[in-house]
Amino acid sequence: MNGTYIAGVWANGQGDWFERICPATGTVNWQGNAASAEQVNAAIDCARQALPAWRRLSQHDRERILLSYGEAIKGRREAIAMAISKDMGKVLWDALGEADAMYGKIQLSIRALHERAGETVDKAAFGQTQLSHQPHGVMAVFAPFNFPGHLPNGHIVPALLAGNTVVLKPSELAPSVTAIMADAFEAAGLPDGVFNIVQGGHETGAALLNGDINGVLFTGSEKTGLMMHRHFAGRPDIMLALEMGGNNPLILWEPADRDAAADIAAQSAFLTTGQRCSCARRAIIPEGRWGDAVVDGIIDRAKALKIGQWDEENIFMGPLVSEDAAIAATQFQMNLSKSGGKSLRRLKRLERGGGFVSAGIMDVTDARYIADEELFGPFLQIYRVKTFEQALHVANDTRFGLSAGLVCDDDHYWATAKAELHAGIVNRNRPTAGASGHLPFGGPGLSGNFRPGAYYAADYSAWPQASQIADTAARLTAIGFPD
Ligand code: NAD
Ligand code: SIN
Repeated sequence: MNGTYIAGVWANGQGDWFERICPATGTVNWQGNAASAEQVNAAIDCARQALPAWRRLSQHDRERILLSYGEAIKGRREAIAMAISKDMGKVLWDALGEADAMYGKIQLSIRALHERAGETVDKAAFGQTQLSHQPHGVMAVFAPFNFPGHLPNGHIVPALLAGNTVVLKPSELAPSVTAIMADAFEAAGLPDGVFNIVQGGHETGAALLNGDINGVLFTGSEKTGLMMHRHFAGRPDIMLALEMGGNNPLILWEPADRDAAADIAAQSAFLTTGQRCSCARRAIIPEGRWGDAVVDGIIDRAKALKIGQWDEENIFMGPLVSEDAAIAATQFQMNLSKSGGKSLRRLKRLERGGGFVSAGIMDVTDARYIADEELFGPFLQIYRVKTFEQALHVANDTRFGLSAGLVCDDDHYWATAKAELHAGIVNRNRPTAGASGHLPFGGPGLSGNFRPGAYYAADYSAWPQASQIADTAARLTAIGFPD
């Protein structure tokens, strides 16, 4: 399969060979050579050549092309979902939801651009003041495997609308969907060279980071994001937008409906096999009978989850992205167990192999050491606490700050939690996972660098330009100037 898409032409990569093996079936879903460093630079050159014409196009024309891309995405909905499911194992209803989110992103991004990065003109005594926005230039987009279509699309659409050109490096764990995106852009009449793809892993990514780019729009792990932050230290000229992971807390504080609390916790932890950055990793629950019953309810739900291949009937969870991820998840659990965590339901590798695991739950209240790390899988750590203050303290005891939630009927507790929880997404009586495209997405700490995406992606796609404008040059009346 083709490793590069440059100036509208697909070609074989000249870098290392790589394969994408489906974690559900073990079949090879993508194979080919990665883009070499030379090819990455050719993609960047091409994006730079396409930049002047694209940024000079009227806003209306760019929007027209992106709207038409949206329609092309809608027409390829099933193909997009299948490509995602086969590459990384996401169940089909979830992958179809991802395809729908890609379509929905266009109108949302146009609205966001007008609201947040559009043009305004005001009258002034000398004439007028004008606020406008300029594109950065060539943007390198790095995609994660868990939303291999929706998340790069969420950077690419706002970046293109603002007049930037793009080189996309898809995740090597889910490369296939991006060929459908290229096809949709062609169908929409996007000029060649405005959107380019370089397939590959870390070496291809490193070449892109070292190329002549103006910005990096990254979604992925904390480890990679920190590497990029260090890489661009002392480079204020590069727009660096980092969307990273979380160690997200969910406080369950005695709502009347105990079953609803257990539903919200289980969905927060196990949606997309726990492979959403917004998934709850930690549930904080009061000591006592109410808490005991909720914990039992979460365990019951974990037991009942249907696990299987993407196209099987009534499946809630697919596999983890790879066998390696399944092994890493069991090791994470084992380390917690050695540290004194009590297993309430073990995350186990399933007989069908590949990335398949069951959902795990562990009470870590008495554990001696709990690593503040994101386990990207279906595993929930339970903390039992005596007071609400203690619950907030445990929730905020993390270096991350992506999502958090409170399940509680009491308005006073909600007002306190909203004010105190240190996270970019703080929900009440709703799962932590399942973001709204109408809102910004991102958070403090190691979850990003204060460049939230989704509705605020318009902000990092362009820089503001302020102008004071008088139509003719008129004399100024400063003290001491000659008459
Ligand atoms: P990852 O960091 O492993 O990879 C992300 C991208 O960076 C991939 O394209 C990868 O090839 C590239 N990359 C990785 N190491 C690199 C290197 N050394 N040099 C150059 N490129 C490199 O992330 P992932 O495992 O694909 O995605 C899961 C992670 O993403 C989780 O941590 C999750 O929380 C996070 N995530 C965050 C958000 C958000 O919006 N905050 C959304 C989805 C996922
Ligand atoms: C993610 O980007 O990983 C999750 C977004 C969501 O929860 O919808």
